[in-house]
Order: sequence, then structure tokens, then C-alpha cells
Amino acid sequence: MGQVQGDRLVCPYHGWAFDIEGRCRHIPALAQVVPGARQAVACHAVRERHGLIWLRAGAPHESSLLAEPPPFDGPAEGTGIRRVLCGPYDVAASAPRVLENFLDLAHFAFVHAGSLGDPAHAAIGDYRVEAGGAGRGLRATGCRAWQPKSNLLAQTGEMVEYRYEVPAPYCAVLSKCPERWQDYQESIALFALPQDPVRTRVWFLIAMSAGDRSDEQIRAFQDALFEQDRRILEAQRPALLPLDPRAEASCAIDRLSLAYRAYLGELGVRFGVLPAGPAP
Ligand SMILES: [Fe+2]
Repeated sequence: MGQVQGDRLVCPYHGWAFDIEGRCRHIPALAQVVPGARQAVACHAVRERHGLIWLRAGAPHESSLLAEPPPFDGPAEGTGIRRVLCGPYDVAASAPRVLENFLDLAHFAFVHAGSLGDPAHAAIGDYRVEAGGAGRGLRATGCRAWQPKSNLLAQTGEMVEYRYEVPAPYCAVLSKCPERWQDYQESIALFALPQDPVRTRVWFLIAMSAGDRSDEQIRAFQDALFEQDRRILEAQRPALLPLDPRAEASCAIDRLSLAYRAYLGELGVRFGVLPAGPAP
């Protein structure tokens, strides 16, 4: 509710004015007083990146993880490439559930039938997952799925290869390469902002070979896809993502989901998850 006035942030309650370092510089009710450390407010590191404002809530010494906003190395804006920020989307699901859904290939055929998948071509090829350790995130390569309409420009179905990176607990980047489109580029970053353990605000940053498609068309395509995921996400129980690999049934093709759960466990993430119990 505060207001920025010049280089001060002014509290709406008593008009106290704070400078950029959080020091109180003016108390209107007692203007002759020089405010001290008791009247200062806490400050947090803030960055502007990817069209969003990022705030680091923890103390600087807590972890080198996320000292900066997650990187996005998608194709650079230029000839034929456009970057579009989609969202925010508010979803009644935990952030780890949202991330896991973004990393999941086997749902395409059923949740996104007709665009990202086809129930008649539901098989997912084997792929590799590399876990770089708690501080370095996850990478999955060689993920292949058959897609009827993998992007806004596609006219016919084809095999599409995906590569995923998870640089931080609530961020992931996928890059796709349709087999027949050698010069096509597309990367999508997912940024999830947990609002409470079971509610999340989501943005997608898309960098793609857009042809003559407008930003509005790119957003409409992404809106429709996310709406399909939302129905599933909001129905999942338990709402918190269980980190114990035995808690939910899985198969070998879910190895990226299982690696993501293990990664959250290694990091000690407790928000939005059901922590794994001690081994029996
Ligand atoms: Fe999906």
C-alpha cells in the first residue's frame, strides 16, 4: 500500500519515508527526530529479468542457489524469433506439482490430445536424465514424443525431441526440436511463484521461430494448453508433491519426475511437498 515519492518509499499508515537502503528518513508526526536503526525496514535483493521482477526473500548467506534469477538461454530475439511472456496463470496446485507436470512427457497424448499428443501414438522413447547435484539442477535429453501439432506453425504430426533443464526448484526450461524443421527454434521457460503450499502463480517465457504469428496468437495457444493442464493439476491428491518415491506408483518413463522429487529432497525443500520419511 506504500507509495514511491521521489527516491523514498512512503508508508500509507503514518507517512514514514524510507530510502533505498531501508533507512527511515522522515517521521511526519515528529519531524525533528532523526530516525535510527530501530525505525529501518528489512531490504531484499531485487532484479529485473525476463520481463519480471525477482525478489530474493532469504538472507544472502543462506544459499548460493538462486543468488540470481534463473538463466534463460533460449533463442535470441531477432530474425523470425520472438520472445513472449505468457501469464500469469493462477492455479490451485502446489508449485512442485506444476513443475512436475511441465517435465512430464507421458501426459501429452491424453491431456493435450490433438496438439501435443495423440492417444494412438502414446509411447515415449527412452531418454537420459543427468542430476548435477543439489546445487546444479537436472537435465534430461533425448526425450521424444509424437505430436500432431507441436507448435503454432505445425500443420502435420511429427516426432519432436525435447530437452529439459531444471536450474532451480520452481523453474524449468524446455527446448524442442521437431525432426523435420532443422531451422526451427523454440524454448519455453516456466517460472512458478508459490503463493502458499497449494496455490501457485505461473508464467511462461516463450522464445520461438514465430513466422507471421502474432504475440496474441502465441499467448492464446499457451493459454489453451495451460487450461488443459490446470484441470489435472487442481484434481491431484495429495495436493502436496510426495518426495518419497514409493508414495505414488510410477514406471520407468517417469524417471525425470522421480529425479525432480529426489532433487527437491536433496535441497531440503519443504514447501509444497510431503517430505520423504526415513527409510524403513
Ligand atoms: Fe501439459
